[in-house]
Amino acid sequence: MRFLQVVAFALIALSLTEGKLFLKKHGLPPAEAPQARAKAPEFGWFKQRLDHFDTTDNRTWNMRFMNQSQFFESGAPIFIFLGGEWEISSGYLQTGQMFDMAADHHGYMFYTEHRFYGKSFPFEDMATDKLKYLTTDQALADVAYFITHMKKTMPGMAKSKVVVVGASYSASMAIWMRMKYPHLITAALSSSAPIEAVEDYKEYYEVINDNIKLNSAKCLETIRSGTAAMEDLLEAKWGADTLKTLLNTCEPIKIQEPHRSFLFNTIGEVFASLVQYAYVGQIKVECNKLLAKSGSPLEQLSSYIRDQYSGDCMGLYDEFLDYFGSPNITNQIHRQWYYQTCTEYGYYQTTTSNNQPFGKTFPLSLYHNICKDLFGKKFNVDLLQRGINRTNIINGGYKLEVTNVVSVHGTVDPWHAVGLKQDLNENAPVFIVNGTAHCADLSSISVNDLPEMYEAKKRTKQYIAKWLK
Ligand SMILES: *[C@@H]1O[C@H](CO)[C@@H](O)[C@H](O)[C@H]1NC(C)=O
Ligand SMILES: *[C@@H]1O[C@H](CO)[C@@H](O)[C@H](O)[C@H]1NC(C)=O
Ligand SMILES: *[C@@H]1O[C@H](CO)[C@@H](O)[C@H](O)[C@H]1NC(C)=O
Ligand SMILES: *[C@@H]1O[C@H](CO)[C@@H](O)[C@H](O)[C@H]1NC(C)=O
Ligand SMILES: *[C@@H]1O[C@H](CO)[C@@H](O)[C@H](O)[C@H]1NC(C)=O
Repeated sequence: MRFLQVVAFALIALSLTEGKLFLKKHGLPPAEAPQARAKAPEFGWFKQRLDHFDTTDNRTWNMRFMNQSQFFESGAPIFIFLGGEWEISSGYLQTGQMFDMAADHHGYMFYTEHRFYGKSFPFEDMATDKLKYLTTDQALADVAYFITHMKKTMPGMAKSKVVVVGASYSASMAIWMRMKYPHLITAALSSSAPIEAVEDYKEYYEVINDNIKLNSAKCLETIRSGTAAMEDLLEAKWGADTLKTLLNTCEPIKIQEPHRSFLFNTIGEVFASLVQYAYVGQIKVECNKLLAKSGSPLEQLSSYIRDQYSGDCMGLYDEFLDYFGSPNITNQIHRQWYYQTCTEYGYYQTTTSNNQPFGKTFPLSLYHNICKDLFGKKFNVDLLQRGINRTNIINGGYKLEVTNVVSVHGTVDPWHAVGLKQDLNENAPVFIVNGTAHCADLSSISVNDLPEMYEAKKRTKQYIAKWLK
């Protein structure tokens, strides 16, 4: 059994027990192969306070990080790749834009793990009352304490300037780090940052729609009519049984809400994850696979979806709740990220817009239900909206004021719709690269880059170099 959900930002297959159960978008795109000259980073642990905003609370926990000193010369800059809602790994300390900049500037590299993700858990479990310590404010303060400590204790770092680099959610963090801790951070590179929290992120599926259409109008139409046929089927007697067979769901399909929305959302997310991480040409390749299927649009769509599960059955809402409703720490990423969306961000990818192929099948109410069902009745619409308003008030949303930050987005990335649209000022440029996907600018500059991407990467390095002078 597997689940497909675009909760946030990258695509990974998660397994429950032994089987491959969940296919979800999270984290960041995998780095390319390490550069030949790259040494392996090491892991370290750093003692953090649990609550940076209550000095009477003396509880602590261990945050994990990676370090890589191969280029470092005393007094040179420190480059920190900020962890987001994923487990840290060596990739971006061995290749990519940050690695190249560290080489150019003889910099030290760190990768900090975000609290409650990877192996950086303050508690033995993730019961809802413990998740109140999972906030972006706390995570930013973790990084501030980390920097302060390293500069004080590591040889040659006392006078080092600090550059933070972030991807997706951690790209928002990179901007906010520079904004809130300018005395600690000299510059930031922000790749694909959502910056304005929003409850109903209806533009997400509009971007999915437009990018599929750009590649194949027929493909978009097949998705649309296949989805409509599934809706019709669920109206018919025994229709749910037929659809269970067509989609190979693990359990019988329940047609009441939110089970029905969850099922359609799972189908939507197959295409969302395709577009969000599409390499150039990939959408066309996948559309051709869908169109090569035989039968009606219903059969074509079902068969294509089944393929994504490689023989495993499709998990539905009950299984989803069983798994992510448990405080067990093995539920890495999804429970925690949902908590952050229910309390701070929303970003719910709905079918509210008409400009997408999934009818009205997964409205905002799906996510209202998920928040309550995962974390309890208290996590209602009012709490959600208060949390979203708070996020934009304390971080500024689109109206934030900051300098020495380069922001890069791609038009294929559905997250660009909640990102910065234009330069904030001459020292906060924004590049929106036509035809590229989520976080695609983090890889090393290459002659294979689209010209616009090549230029954005080159200019990024120039800006950071200027601010480091
Ligand atoms: C925290 O404070 C309590 C009460 O003063 C004390 O008993 C405990 O030892 C302290 N714990 C740590 C880790 O300092
Ligand atoms: C990581 O930091 C430790 C402590 O300073 C150091 O001994 C080690 O060499 C560093 N590892 C790398 C790969 O730079
Ligand atoms: C939590 O996960 C561990 C490791 O998979 C497992 O042994 C344990 O039974 C789980 N506990 C609960 C309450 O699900
Ligand atoms: C959130 O902000 C919106 C827009 O300013 C406002 O209409 C709404 O009442 C606020 N909601 C809460 C719960 O604070
Ligand atoms: C972006 O790229 C697409 C496909 O190559 C092209 O059709 C479109 O005109 C480009 N848009 C801009 C604003 O350059």
